[in-house]
Amino acid sequence: MPENPIAVVPVAGVGTRLRPHTHTQPKVLLQVAGKPILAHILDDLPRLGISRAVLIVGHMGERIVEFVRSRYRYPTLEAEFVEQPERLGLGHAVSLAEPFADDRPMLIILGDTIFEADLGSVLRGGTSSIGVKPVKDPQRFGIVETNGQGRVVRMVEKPDRPSSNLAITGVYYFTHGKPLFDALRELREKNVRTRGEFQLTDAMQLLVERGETITTFPIDGWYDCGKTETLLETNRVLLEKHSATADLPGSLVCGPVSVAEGAVVEACIIGPHVSIAAGARLRHAVVRNSIINPNARVENVLLEGSVVGDSAIVMGRFKRVNVGDSSELSIT
Ligand code: UTP
Repeated sequence: MPENPIAVVPVAGVGTRLRPHTHTQPKVLLQVAGKPILAHILDDLPRLGISRAVLIVGHMGERIVEFVRSRYRYPTLEAEFVEQPERLGLGHAVSLAEPFADDRPMLIILGDTIFEADLGSVLRGGTSSIGVKPVKDPQRFGIVETNGQGRVVRMVEKPDRPSSNLAITGVYYFTHGKPLFDALRELREKNVRTRGEFQLTDAMQLLVERGETITTFPIDGWYDCGKTETLLETNRVLLEKHSATADLPGSLVCGPVSVAEGAVVEACIIGPHVSIAAGARLRHAVVRNSIINPNARVENVLLEGSVVGDSAIVMGRFKRVNVGDSSELSIT
């Protein structure tokens, strides 16, 4: 088994597609299925024998530093932070990890990607490898072409005419950091950008052109958290997977749900597919398929497909009706 890899987790993005939540929170700290997106990624690293991670921070980076330091203050994971002062692209973000990663084996995981894959085999495999998944709409993704024996022959970022349906999911393993950092440096020195940014895909394409062997490995579950709809979908899938439930005396629970310790739920109907974070208070509400972030307050409402931000307040009221026999009334 080679030297233990270092994890590189870029989390400097602004998260425009998740506004308004990302006006006040870094995307990766938004809750999904009972914990912040980033915790789903970092919690898994010690199991893989990874004890060091470099996080590339930018937009509201201090919140991320604070979260990681408080959650991982016991030595299961040693975290380093590097600031990406300007959002120049994923390739640029990864290049900033060079002083820590150097030529060590390196596992890069995008901070907004929750996934399932047999990473143990990948790390033992001795080849650089990219996590891929077949998709129906490859023009939205970076894609890889392989030679039929699993070796990557070409990679293109968001091609207009895709020649393969294998999407790059955001999990990459490199047996040696140096060739990748050299390729990233070359892109920066020659100012080679795609769609205005220094792309990790372009650097990997350079490696392939130079004869480096890069293979692919299958990503079984790929849970995107980039938009409200996909965040809610990921919440649904992960809650189902873990059959999460809660005991809420005085309320009715239709699982799966995740209710953090320290959340207060009174006289509600909760679920299915609801995550309620610590400090949230819900009274007389019916909530399904929703994420309630820490310290939010929800009262007298019916919520469906909703994300309620940290410390936000959502209040409704009960309606009075006086409806005669055989009438039809629709309350919207
Ligand atoms: P995205 O392309 O999803 O960007 O980045 P984003 O800012 O997070 O979200 P949108 O597109 O504005 O809604 C994928 C991952 O790469 C990181 C992001 O933090 C995210 O985890 N990234 C991207 C960086 O760290 N730096 C960059 O310059 C670009």
